[in-house]
Amino acid sequence: MTRPIAPAPAYPPREVPPVDLDAIASVRDFEAPARERIDAAAWAYLVRGSWDERSIAGNERALDAFRLRPRVLRDVSRVTTATTILGRPASMPLGIAPAALHALAHPDAELATVRAAAAEGAIVTVSTVASRSIEDCAAAAPDARRWFQLYVQHDWDVTRSLVERAAAARYEALVVTVDLPVLGYRDELLRHRFDPGPAYANLPLRDTWRAGREIDELVDLRNVPMTWDRLDEIRAWAPLPFVVKGIMTAEDARLAVDHGADAVWVSNHGGRQLDRVDAPIDVLAEVVDAVEGRAEVYVDGGIRRGPDVLIALALGATAVFTARPLLWALACAGEPGVIHALRILEEEIARGLALLGAASPAEVTRDHVRRVRPA
Ligand SMILES: Cc1cc2nc3c(=O)[nH]c(=O)nc-3n(C[C@H](O)[C@H](O)[C@H](O)COP(=O)(O)O)c2cc1C
Repeated sequence: MTRPIAPAPAYPPREVPPVDLDAIASVRDFEAPARERIDAAAWAYLVRGSWDERSIAGNERALDAFRLRPRVLRDVSRVTTATTILGRPASMPLGIAPAALHALAHPDAELATVRAAAAEGAIVTVSTVASRSIEDCAAAAPDARRWFQLYVQHDWDVTRSLVERAAAARYEALVVTVDLPVLGYRDELLRHRFDPGPAYANLPLRDTWRAGREIDELVDLRNVPMTWDRLDEIRAWAPLPFVVKGIMTAEDARLAVDHGADAVWVSNHGGRQLDRVDAPIDVLAEVVDAVEGRAEVYVDGGIRRGPDVLIALALGATAVFTARPLLWALACAGEPGVIHALRILEEEIARGLALLGAASPAEVTRDHVRRVRPA
């Protein structure tokens, strides 16, 4: 069901000269120039959240409740950010979270992102609702550590074919997102009448799609109850490591592991689903404790800087993920922009590790962090 050509974006990014990457010191520096390049409706989709966006604000603020506890006079002369994720080497404990519709940010879309990930040895998660197909992303970067993120579809056969296509295209893990039985209430999408048109490269066109409701129809599972037993079915479709994304409680983390998850990904979907939920960093430790080493634990939401990553590692995460900063970087400069963003983050993690007194991510422990105010 792959489409023959890449669908045209409804909101093409503006053509303005690329940013001077040498002047970008932190991934946050990409945000303002990205905004200049992106249509207002596309920005509403790419960056904004749900309801009053309390969860977006909370994600970054929650990180401020922690302080790092650096140890000195440790041998950090050969500090490395290298680590092992799902049993394979990764250049750093930070990967690219799945995000839909990269064509809203840059014409090269996901192809630029997967190539940048390959260049930097970082994990990249390709979304079901990508602007480029599963197969095209694989062909663009055969050697990238590519994971495929699954949104369950109304049509169970289509859902299964997505998983089988990902396995055939040698994606190395399946990430099933479970926090989206319906789309969060997103004021900004309604205000902008956001409607990307038939922009999803992986999905068959549906006659029933109505203008402005397409995104809702794509993900609304009210007629397809998605439950734990359905997760078991999905897991049986392909022999891939199985990651469950969108877990926010110790109870569900335990259930995910009982249902065969190799990794539990703590996330509130970047504040785009239910608003007024905890920040993922605030529930990370309880999830790590609940999982008791039976699965890896990842976290995302508001991760912008090296010390943010160190806090997550200290609380027990194997890896962290980030989405918006890489979309800003993509909008600003395509593949070189994403490479630059990944390099900044890697450099920040390396320096942070050395200053923390840890020669590698594996040496970071809970003693390296303390909470200074309640959640
Ligand atoms: C524009 C955008 C699109 C997203 N699309 C997806 C998606 O297709 N699948 C998914 O599991 N998560 C999706 N997410 C959520 C991210 O994977 C991630 O959980 C969250 O954005 C991390 O927070 P951060 O943006 O603050 O780093 C999306 C996030 C954004 C900003």
